[in-house]
Amino acid sequence: MTPFTIAIDGPAAAGKGTISKAVAAHFGFAHLDTGLLYRAVGARMLTGTEPVQAAQTLTAADLQSDQLRTPEVAQAASKVAVIPEVRAALIEFQRAFARRAGGAVLDGRDIGTVICPDAEAKLFVTASAQVRAERRFLELQAKDDTTTRAQVLADVIERDARDSERATAPLKPAADAVIIDTSDLSIEAAIQAAIAAVTPRMELR
Ligand code: DC
Repeated sequence: MTPFTIAIDGPAAAGKGTISKAVAAHFGFAHLDTGLLYRAVGARMLTGTEPVQAAQTLTAADLQSDQLRTPEVAQAASKVAVIPEVRAALIEFQRAFARRAGGAVLDGRDIGTVICPDAEAKLFVTASAQVRAERRFLELQAKDDTTTRAQVLADVIERDARDSERATAPLKPAADAVIIDTSDLSIEAAIQAAIAAVTPRMELR
């Protein structure tokens, strides 16, 4: 099958990850959570590695750690993500993944705008900051993390601002992205909306 790329962007905790996995499974495509690349660089920065160096020497093994899911690593990821040389070092890996035979779903912040501007389908998955913070809070609680609800909301707002206001590849919907606001949608309804937005583009080919 010729490459078919589905770009899924959006802010933290909007449901991108869950939707991307389900969309990839539905179409039988490979999935890359590009946030993991920035998280891996952020995690290495926290242990003393210079971020550009970390990005240039990243390996698949660096993406495996459970430690990448902590709030500290999320903030570190958002900080290293403003550095243009860090972003540049990660571009080729993402583009190669996107063009693999058999189809690919990539989720992140700049997939439809910078990494894959020619993606066959683009979605922008969003939700209000309050709804996203509540979802992330419940996730952290389930993991016995003691971060408070107020702290999670402050983190979400801080990360949104940094991700949206940076000069290089800021978070924003591509002009041709389908916007899916999951504030009032169940996970199942959000997944169905995403599949429904992509399916006609597959049939066009
Ligand atoms: O999607 P996530 O929460 O795992 O992403 C962590 C951080 O990485 C996010 O706050 C900004 C950065 N990021 C990015 O700049 N570009 C991407 N394509 C993916 C993530």
